[in-house]
Amino acid sequence: MNILITGGAGFIGSHVVRRFVLNYPEYKVVNLDALTYAGNLENLKDVENSSNYSFVKGDICDENLVDKIFAGYNIDHVIHLAAESHVDRSIKDPLIFIKTNVLGTGNLLQTARKHWSGKFEGKRFYHVSTDEVYGSLELEGGYFTETTPYDPRSPYSASKAASDHLVRAYWHTYHMPVVISNCSNNYGPNHFPEKLIPLMINNIIHRKPLPVYGKGENVRDWLYVEDHAAAIDVVFHKGKDGETYNIGGHNEWKNIDIVKLLCDLMDEKLGRLRGESRSLITFVTDRAGHDLRYAIDASKIQKELGWVPAESFETGIRKTIDWYLNNQEWLDHVTSGAYRQYYESMYG
Ligand code: NAD
Ligand code: DAU
Repeated sequence: MNILITGGAGFIGSHVVRRFVLNYPEYKVVNLDALTYAGNLENLKDVENSSNYSFVKGDICDENLVDKIFAGYNIDHVIHLAAESHVDRSIKDPLIFIKTNVLGTGNLLQTARKHWSGKFEGKRFYHVSTDEVYGSLELEGGYFTETTPYDPRSPYSASKAASDHLVRAYWHTYHMPVVISNCSNNYGPNHFPEKLIPLMINNIIHRKPLPVYGKGENVRDWLYVEDHAAAIDVVFHKGKDGETYNIGGHNEWKNIDIVKLLCDLMDEKLGRLRGESRSLITFVTDRAGHDLRYAIDASKIQKELGWVPAESFETGIRKTIDWYLNNQEWLDHVTSGAYRQYYESMYG
């Protein structure tokens, strides 16, 4: 089995690549990643020399390159994670989101169709998506299910919704075997420190202000990244063609409560006085169009495919804090920009 994993140098992608390279030595894994600011090959140091792993630096929008990869590696499966992923960046600069997330997905679909056309048996295009396509819930407003109508509200979520629609169009129109999953907020090791949890951890370490948008009342549903990678493994192997699976941990938190929890746990770890880090909390201007609440109903994947998260938030958040404290070099390389030289030193 030759699997193209896109975005494998990013946060979630690196956990998926590691899982597939280590757990399935019989598969050949090709990681295609453009190494944007979010791509970091230091995430994959432990598997980069594995004989069933190859890395290609390149853009999913590059038609010639993607065509060459399909032909050269005889790709028969795709797990597509490459994307622009940060909502705040999408508000400042939407076009790169439209290019990568919509056109890039279109190019991958079209190239797969060209190479697989008429021979779809044993092929699969797996598109990794987000719960943000469903819009925003009221605080007591139930859960997102697989049949919740799409209502994306940021340029990021609109671009992901568009890519989901394209993937389904290739299923209905060309019978390409596709599967989609829509997951809630991930956290864990290798998370880029522009996102809430790693940003707060980094700022607490350095005693910098902790910017909480609005009043911190918005709710997110958090899942440990390795549980997401395990769910992707299950959907990839057992999911049904044409289906969508929601993935989430039934673990809702108001942002302000997460920030306070991180402050308290880290004061303990760093030997600081209780309350010291909470004094860094700074309420700042709210995100434009800030979605109030996301919450996933994950009963379909549980019932049909038998997946449940292994990690509780209690254990997952402690593991995450420990990982950042034990990997401050990783964090320093990311914040200083040094991680961008890793590709040249390895492959240059
Ligand atoms: P990330 O930003 O950490 O990583 C994205 C990766 O894609 C990076 O390695 C980047 O270099 C690469 N990339 C970007 N543009 C590219 C292009 N044009 N060509 C090739 N590679 C490119 O993102 P993430 O948080 O790991 O998210 C991965 C996927 O999972 C995304 O599709 C995202 O929408 C989805 N998702 C994320 C979350 C979450 O909480 N982070 C939740 C649900 C779904
Ligand atoms: O729900 C899945 C989505 O989760 C993924 O599709 C996205 O790729 C991923 O980035 C994430 O989106 P969010 O916007 O929910 O994540 P973020 O970490 O940016 O913000 C989480 C919450 O914290 C959100 O309500 C905004 C708030 N926030 C964020 C930052 C960066 C703050 O209050 N302060 C901050 O500095």
